[in-house]
Amino acid sequence: MSDTNLATASRQIEQAILNPDLRPIVQTFFDETTFTATHIAHDPATLKAVIIDSVLDYDAASGRTQNTSAQQVLNYIQENGLTVEWQLETHAHADHLSAAVWLKEKLGGKIAIGENITHVQDVFGKIFNAEKNFSRDGSQFDKLFHDGETFSVGRLPAIALSVPGHTPADMVYIIGDAAFIGDTLFMPDYGTARADFPGGDARQLYRSIQRLLSLPDKTRVFLCHDYKTADRHDFMWETTIGDERNNIHVHKGISEDQFVTMRTNRDKTLSLPHLIMPSVQVNMRAGHLPEPEENGVSYIKIPINRM
Ligand SMILES: [Fe+2]
Repeated sequence: MSDTNLATASRQIEQAILNPDLRPIVQTFFDETTFTATHIAHDPATLKAVIIDSVLDYDAASGRTQNTSAQQVLNYIQENGLTVEWQLETHAHADHLSAAVWLKEKLGGKIAIGENITHVQDVFGKIFNAEKNFSRDGSQFDKLFHDGETFSVGRLPAIALSVPGHTPADMVYIIGDAAFIGDTLFMPDYGTARADFPGGDARQLYRSIQRLLSLPDKTRVFLCHDYKTADRHDFMWETTIGDERNNIHVHKGISEDQFVTMRTNRDKTLSLPHLIMPSVQVNMRAGHLPEPEENGVSYIKIPINRM
C-alpha cells in the first residue's frame, strides 16, 4: 500500500536538506526532573516559532505548580524576538504536565495535538470519572491534526504524521528537515517508548516506527525524552533517522513479532511514571487544571486499584 503522506513528508525533508532556507533553528531546554526535552523551532527569516512539549513543574507532595521550566522557554522566545504560532503536543504525556496554557497566555500560539486525543479523553475520562461536562471531542485544544496534514511555520513547510502505539494520539511534527518524534523512538542506544498505557499497542508502535525509519537518512530527529544509559553519562535529545536505523530495539533483522514480545515483556518490568495521575488529568484537558470545585480549588484525583 502506498503511503502518500509519508512520501510528502520525505519530499519536504529532501528539499530542506538541499536548501538551508527551509530548515528551522532548534533550541532545546531539558528538564532533568521529568527527563523531558522541550524544543523551540523557528524560521530564521520570519522569526515565527513553535514550542513543542513544554513542561509545567509540579511538586506532587504539595500539589503546587511552578513555571521555572516554562520561564526559560519564555525568556528564549523574548530574547530572540520570536512570534509563537503553535504550542504543539506530540501526545498527552503521562510523565509531566504541559505548560502550553501558561505559555499561550504569555506568548500566544494555538495549542495542538493529534486528532486521536478523543480516544485518550474517552479512556482517561472513564478512569478518572471526569465531570459530566468534560467533553471528549478534543475541543479543549485549538487544533487537532490528522495524518498528513500540512501547515507552515513562517516560510518553513511542515507536516504532521500520526504515529500511534505509545498512545493512540501520538503525532510526529516535521518542520523543514527536523522531525519532532515525541515518544516513539528514544536515542539509538536506549530504545523505544513503552506501549502499556491504556490505549497503547506495541504492534502499532512497531508499524509507526517503521514509517519513521523510512524517512530520509539525514532527517534531523528530536526526541521528547532521554534517560542516559549505563555507558552514556550525558543527556542527548538529537539524532538522525540514519542513526535510528541502528536503534537497539528496532534495528534491521528485528521482526514485528520479536519487537512485540520484547516490548511487552519489558513493559511488565516498568513502574508507572511518578507524575502519571496529575499529568494525564491535566494534559487530557489541553493543559488546563481540572474544573475548580465550589471552593474555587482544583483537585487531582487518584483512582484506587484501577491503574
Ligand atoms: Fe509519553
